[in-house]
Amino acid sequence: MTERKAILTIDGEDTPIVLNVYPATLGQDVIDVSPVLGRGYFTFDQGFASTASTESKITYIDGDKGILMHRGYPIEELAEKSDYLETCFLILNGELPNAKEKVDFQNIIRTHTMLNRSVESFFSGFRYDAHPMAILCGAVGAMSSFYHDSLDINDPHHRMITAHRLIAKMPTLAAMCHKHFIGQPYMYPDNSLGYSENFLHMMFGNPCEEKEINPVVAKAVDKLFLLHADHEQNASTSTVRLAGSSGANPFSCVAAGIAALWGPAHGGANQAVLEMLKQIGDVKHIDNFVKRAKDKDDPFRLMGFGHRVYKNFDPRAVVMKKTCDAVLGELGLFDDPLLKIAKRLETIALEDEYFVEKKLYPNVDFYSGIIMKAIGIPTEMFTAIFATGRTVGWISHWNEMISNPYRIGRPRQLYTGPLKREYVPVDQRG
Ligand code: CMC
Repeated sequence: MTERKAILTIDGEDTPIVLNVYPATLGQDVIDVSPVLGRGYFTFDQGFASTASTESKITYIDGDKGILMHRGYPIEELAEKSDYLETCFLILNGELPNAKEKVDFQNIIRTHTMLNRSVESFFSGFRYDAHPMAILCGAVGAMSSFYHDSLDINDPHHRMITAHRLIAKMPTLAAMCHKHFIGQPYMYPDNSLGYSENFLHMMFGNPCEEKEINPVVAKAVDKLFLLHADHEQNASTSTVRLAGSSGANPFSCVAAGIAALWGPAHGGANQAVLEMLKQIGDVKHIDNFVKRAKDKDDPFRLMGFGHRVYKNFDPRAVVMKKTCDAVLGELGLFDDPLLKIAKRLETIALEDEYFVEKKLYPNVDFYSGIIMKAIGIPTEMFTAIFATGRTVGWISHWNEMISNPYRIGRPRQLYTGPLKREYVPVDQRG
């Protein structure tokens, strides 16, 4: 497969370790470090910052240049010319659909939106104010128990049905989480509506009143889903792959992904952004919070700024910023106090030496939080919406892994604990 070699010599040993170098079609080539095991070593890379855990054909990111492409198509072009469901088809199947495939796919997703009635009883078990991500995690895991007839992970047809079910049912589940939280009856999906309109219908409609859907808002939600659709081997996607590598069923793997997404360093950042803006409270306090973010002894960070991979700008944030302005303009919200703080914070941080030097730019979650706040989505729902959009990425990576040769994921460690010692009975311990 390769002609290129890397040579690793440890402490001047006579026989160096010869490592293969595998070429990427784009971006960094990788050094295959597996031979070090045979010589009695592991490799160490905290946070997997320079470790490729897999080969993949789905998404490419160049963090320095701010490039994100799905199956070779730049995200800016998909956001402008495509829509969420078409992008789902692309990510899942590798190619854009032709006209017939596009309509067929829309119809397949449309006809899988409903949930088994028993799912509603799971929801009843949650406290009235349960966080949507807690419910989502449990409900998606519980879906494993409904589809015994199509859970053979080695059957490509079963895998595809599961992918369709997950993409179709996530908006229904997410909207139910919201309804549970506010104590309103659940809304059934309306399959005459498009994907994002249907989500808004289930979120904001109620059985007593028809809710008119603003097309600018529906378009913004479609972009939110599209911009979150996939992001290669991030923490939640890697979690889905790792769970799947043991042969676990795809619903439980996606539930694991939802759990990993919840944290504030990952998908939970969009909720954290709004909480931070509330905490700042007034434009006059921004300088103090920026000062705190720069203080090494203060754990406070500016949420919605910085990214592990993007060190120039986050291309999703560029599109999101435009959508954000369109939504604020449409809804006449430029004077909202929280949004004013956000706009001012963005300007200050973009000019601040510390943030410029460390290449900490507003990321996708900064603007997505502002958009969701503007369209009336409650803060606790933000990460559930990220999860809804990301479901296609999770299931596509899982499918890619299962369709190819794979091994159970089993990282090693650098042990720095105690040496072997004698067990001392409790009555003899000091
Ligand atoms: N505010 C203040 N300082 C920061 C921030 C921030 N938001 N982010 C990073 N830094 C500093 C950090 O203190 C460190 O400084 P030093 O080199 O002096 O120790 C330096 O920048 C590098 O930070 P890091 O933590 O080593 O970077 P990382 O790649 O491990 O973390 C991150 C990336 C996204 C977790 C981090 O930037 C962060 O916590 N940001 C806020 C949370 C956030 O917005 N997350 C959403 C990411 S986008 C959505 C997604 O894909 O999940």
